[in-house]
Amino acid sequence: MRTPLIAGNWKMNKTVAESVEWARACIAGLGDVSDREVLVCPPYTALATLAPLLEATPLALGAQDVFYAEKGAYTGAISPLMLKDLGCRYVIIGHSERRQHFGDNDAIVNKKIVAALGHGLKSILCVGESKPQRDGGEAETVVTAQVRAGLAGLDAAQMEKIVIAYEPIWAIGTGDTATAADAQAMHAAIRATLVGLFGDTVAAALRIQYGGSVKPDNVDELMAQLDIDGALVGGASLAVEDFLRIAHFV
Ligand code: PGA
Repeated sequence: MRTPLIAGNWKMNKTVAESVEWARACIAGLGDVSDREVLVCPPYTALATLAPLLEATPLALGAQDVFYAEKGAYTGAISPLMLKDLGCRYVIIGHSERRQHFGDNDAIVNKKIVAALGHGLKSILCVGESKPQRDGGEAETVVTAQVRAGLAGLDAAQMEKIVIAYEPIWAIGTGDTATAADAQAMHAAIRATLVGLFGDTVAAALRIQYGGSVKPDNVDELMAQLDIDGALVGGASLAVEDFLRIAHFV
């Protein structure tokens, strides 16, 4: 069975003080979540402060991006070694906002994944189509191509540390969620692609999250779908009560 993964992606939000307040409230409200994994991905600036607060709690720590080199002359970049050093367990890679604003393409995404895995960080590979691509009937082709390119060169053992997040771009931050049926259809297509690439066992074990306007009032229906194994939550992760309700999906 796949353990669901509910992850909050704060994007470029929250000061360190706000992060601490949120984390304390989240830990207090989580209770027994042994049947699911819960993760928060704050900005880099809050990682070092949150790491000791989250230690030995059910809330795991992750980062929103990583660079592919270990160290060196890369002004402004953060390496997988640095994230590991801080106690991060996960890193989001290839988010559509990185692809749109920071030039992350499939080849860069693949390099980042390989680097993150090399340091024992679990990678959440984000994929998703734009509105014109969906309207043009290309959604599945685009998304499965992103999956293939992002995972190029990986072997079955490395896939144990991969999570895929399907995030249709038109659903991110818009309040316009994919229907549960449409999301399920894409998740099934992604899983079929994984069968072709890595075989049945790997494909059956890999978690595929849905992201894009996940809210307290739609999470239960999304999570009830056969191939939806978690949520990557942006806007609704900022208010801790909303995130807790999502983490406690039924
Ligand atoms: P959203 O963002 O929940 O605000 O739509 C999701 C994401 O970008 O991960």
